[in-house]
Amino acid sequence: MKFAIRAGRVQGFLFTSAWWGWVYLGERVPGVVYCSMGKRIAGGGAGVVRGPGPGHGQGSGDGGALFARGHLLQLAGLSAKELRAILGRARVFAGHDADGSDDPKAWRERLRGKVVANLFFEDSTRTRVSFAVAAERLGAQVINLTSVGSSISKGETVADTALNVAAMGVDGIVMRHKSSGAPHLVVRTLAERAHSYDDAGRVCSVINAGDGRHEHPTQGLLDIYTIAERFDRLDGFDLSGLTVGIVGDIASSRVARSGIVGLGALGAKVVCIGPPTLVPRSIEAMGCTTTHDLDGVIGKLDAVNVLRIQFERHDGGGGGGEKMPGASNAVASVREYYEVYGLNSARLAKLRPGAIVMHPGPINRGVEMSSEAADSGQSMVLRQVRHGVAVRMAVLEMCLNASAQGR
Ligand code: MLT
Repeated sequence: MKFAIRAGRVQGFLFTSAWWGWVYLGERVPGVVYCSMGKRIAGGGAGVVRGPGPGHGQGSGDGGALFARGHLLQLAGLSAKELRAILGRARVFAGHDADGSDDPKAWRERLRGKVVANLFFEDSTRTRVSFAVAAERLGAQVINLTSVGSSISKGETVADTALNVAAMGVDGIVMRHKSSGAPHLVVRTLAERAHSYDDAGRVCSVINAGDGRHEHPTQGLLDIYTIAERFDRLDGFDLSGLTVGIVGDIASSRVARSGIVGLGALGAKVVCIGPPTLVPRSIEAMGCTTTHDLDGVIGKLDAVNVLRIQFERHDGGGGGGEKMPGASNAVASVREYYEVYGLNSARLAKLRPGAIVMHPGPINRGVEMSSEAADSGQSMVLRQVRHGVAVRMAVLEMCLNASAQGR
């Protein structure tokens, strides 16, 4: 069953219908998004691809089945055991392993001879560089492709680009795309067409580096890792007893969705905080609570993860006449938003002793947090970035090896 809807409408459709499960979105032609429901991936045996569904923090969905075949498209559907396996491996690469038995000099042999293609159809600084550094530390060769300077700017679809790159024999595709479900579409297309470009019908790994408003799984993992490190939970990654606040533009955030799912699966309580236009109650179906009162809850948080307002994903608005990073119907005034939800020095002082401040970047200083908060001793922002490399090394190693075994 397929139907085309304008891209902007579909983003909203995905969000409000996310709890129905089996939602799958992908871009076939520029500006048009196709939605197919309950589609089974043919040929690759990767199972049914779904968008976020009810209770996926508890292990429903097919994230685990996809991961077993060498793809990391979402944290939804991964079991706590699978999450711990990735995080445990990241611990080795971060140099935090208990016995230090894994020799860093041997890391460059792990993916020697493999090729990883970074396909970034949307802007990125941290994620793209971090995947490249991670792949190179494991000995892989990295090829970078962005919309500017490639045939994507000539109207080629994401699926065609991925097919062509796969036909060159790459071992892994790391991709970012503005459409939720784009990496699922790529996995499905690669599996359906595998025999047309590979004699043995082999499918390379696909790793989601952020798809629309859906998920950003490696960001979720590195956020979890950072919290576990600070609260001495690296043995077993059990986050029970910790409360994590995610503040800001939850509605548009793939970072929030991966965080809610992953943190919840490992036992943390998650509370999403922000104005009603950015924090819909429906997000609670993913296993978190919501509040619009930051000041009422800030003193109860162990970690506060502050998100950027994703103006690029909002419908244009008046902007209250102020100079804004982008016009938005969801945020009438950036100044007012900062007053009510910005992490300023007064709110920093209300945090529990030992509580930490996080941000996935890029930070808009003076919009969602002050420079004082971003640069404070409680700020883990640069540790998050550091841990991102270790997490991505773990993900690349596990995914590329899993897909090689399936070959
Ligand atoms: C993302 O790609 O979602 C970023 O890591 C967060 C942001 O863009 O604000």
